[in-house]
Amino acid sequence: MSAITPRVFSGVQPTGNLHLGNYLGAIRRFVTLQESHDCLYCVVDLHSITAQLVHEDLAGQTRSITAAFLAAGIDPKRHIVFNQSRVSGHAELAWVFNCVARIGWMNRMTQFKEKAGKDRENASLGLLAYPSLMAADILLYRATHVPVGDDQKQHLELTRDIAVKFNNDFAARIEALGLTTDLPAEAPDAAPARGYFPVTQPLIEGAATRVMSLKDGSKKMSKSDPSDLSRINLTDDAEAISRKVRKAKTDPDALPSEAEGLKGRPEADNLVSIYAALAGRPVAEILAEFGGQQFSAFKPALADLAVHVLSPITEEMRRLEADPGHIDAVLKDGGERAGAIAEATMRDVKSIVGFLHG
Ligand code: TRP
Repeated sequence: MSAITPRVFSGVQPTGNLHLGNYLGAIRRFVTLQESHDCLYCVVDLHSITAQLVHEDLAGQTRSITAAFLAAGIDPKRHIVFNQSRVSGHAELAWVFNCVARIGWMNRMTQFKEKAGKDRENASLGLLAYPSLMAADILLYRATHVPVGDDQKQHLELTRDIAVKFNNDFAARIEALGLTTDLPAEAPDAAPARGYFPVTQPLIEGAATRVMSLKDGSKKMSKSDPSDLSRINLTDDAEAISRKVRKAKTDPDALPSEAEGLKGRPEADNLVSIYAALAGRPVAEILAEFGGQQFSAFKPALADLAVHVLSPITEEMRRLEADPGHIDAVLKDGGERAGAIAEATMRDVKSIVGFLHG
């Protein structure tokens, strides 16, 4: 009986441009986790056809997310960067999980309800089964930790439910085949669980890195916002970044000197949080420095900082995007290494379920 190695998996959809929110909320975290874990970072192209089947340039979008990963500092040699559709195990395991999960579980997903809207009968079957594919992404590598945004929490809980039900439904066969694994204990004082799939831990971003729209401090920064001034894209150059910060919505008051004073001032709160996140310093420290100053003084400082942190990344992204052949080679190599891990899991799963193979 073996123990499960800690492993990180996360996925980003190849739709729309990446922006500051994706960087501070997700990608920067991916970079840090490389120091402590084996990581797989996946461009989830199979997921991107659930809401919209035909995309104008899916391959280009896939390359662009990959370029952002690499430009931000993800090392595709020490870790694995690939696109989902290259590894057939994702779809194969998702099929098994479609038969493990219950329709009721899927119907309860708030993201499905939101995306399907009023005409639920006309949503794709793939959109309903989306969380089952997401569980397959993670469990195909028996990943133990998944860094995601707050909006993915419910999908992560469902992934855990699928792992537990699979482990329970097939407990006897997993045992008989000698495939039982000691799984990391749920809580420090709990006995280690046993089964085939680990019960994955979500690593949810803190509230401080929730980046809001530059035009409306109550809305999340989003690639689907019709106003480009609402977000800083990872493709923006220094001039565009400065202009967007200058034009960001604010209120007429000076900055407070303590965090308490940001209550009820969503735009001020957002700009200060962005500054703190970019500087890697606590909000309190930023306010101690800028408290009492007007936005006319704070905004140029924020613009300078944003340009300082982001332009090396945006420039590297543009350089990488000019060489699609290199990006394709990275994805091919990552796909092969991911495929080797995936194949071993699928051999086990096929034996557990009872499919003839080998
Ligand atoms: N659903 C995630 C999102 O929209 C993307 C995703 C797909 C993912 N598979 C994953 C994230 C596996 C983490 C792990 O953000």
